[in-house]
Amino acid sequence: MPHDRLTPVGKTALAVARARAEESTRADRLFEDPYASAFVEAAPESAPEQPADSDGANRLRDDLATHIVTRTRFFDRYLLDACAHGCRQVVLLAAGLDTRAFRLDWPDDVRLFEVDRADILGFKRDILDVAGAAPVCERTIIQADLSERWEKPLVAAGFDRTVPTVWLAEGLMVYLSADDAAGLLTTIGDLSAPGSRLSFERSPRTLPTFPDWALSMPQATEFASLWKGGLGEDASQLLEQQGWAVTLTGQQQLTRSYGRAPQTDIAWGFLTAAR
Ligand SMILES: C[S@@+](CC[C@H](N)C(=O)[O-])C[C@H]1O[C@@H](n2cnc3c(N)ncnc32)[C@H](O)[C@@H]1O
Repeated sequence: MPHDRLTPVGKTALAVARARAEESTRADRLFEDPYASAFVEAAPESAPEQPADSDGANRLRDDLATHIVTRTRFFDRYLLDACAHGCRQVVLLAAGLDTRAFRLDWPDDVRLFEVDRADILGFKRDILDVAGAAPVCERTIIQADLSERWEKPLVAAGFDRTVPTVWLAEGLMVYLSADDAAGLLTTIGDLSAPGSRLSFERSPRTLPTFPDWALSMPQATEFASLWKGGLGEDASQLLEQQGWAVTLTGQQQLTRSYGRAPQTDIAWGFLTAAR
């Protein structure tokens, strides 16, 4: 799949890969993603290095990179912790260019499903094939639109709804409408046996909570054009109504606990739920 056939929202996965590639080169890295740079190199114009031509551009780039690095580390630990507590079925919704199937220290019998659209999964497959990457768990790919009936292909691919599942929807919710986000959470609930867990970022439903300096950046404008807002803070209530116990984690505090300076203005956090 050539990178110039990626959808605009598919290309957002490349921006995430760029931040992971940069983090992986640091001596004090919070994780190492050995394939992130290969994705970026294969599609340089789809994940352009942000021009550092103004204080605002620098600040936006640094804030978004800090957000991505913090969330990657947080979700790495979240997934492995769920496995340490007995989950053996992992589902990465909107997996994009996530390489956790290749880089995390999974227990032997983990089965991992990656769900995303055909464009980004095809691009990812091509790059990983060239790199000779081999997953370190049983990995199954499902091409599906997460605003439609994605549970059918997941179940058809061998997903077992009778065992506890650890779900991750990283970098997805803001690209869904409120109705589609609610539908997604309801479907996850229907597929989740007792002992299951779920996590994703907390994010505002409306874009204007971005600070003015960020809204004036072209990079922010592009991001804003894809934004549908998801459920915002209503996600907690919906999950609690559906029998989940919700825990919220603040991002600034978490970033500080990783030894990094928290973002200046973009201060989202994380929602984790358990059944
Ligand atoms: C910002 S990327 C995040 C990718 C990955 N979770 C990560 O953090 O590296 C957003 C991803 O959401 C996927 N996505 C957005 N809307 C989708 C939908 N309706 N169905 C399936 N995938 C979707 C895109 O294809 C893209 O891979």
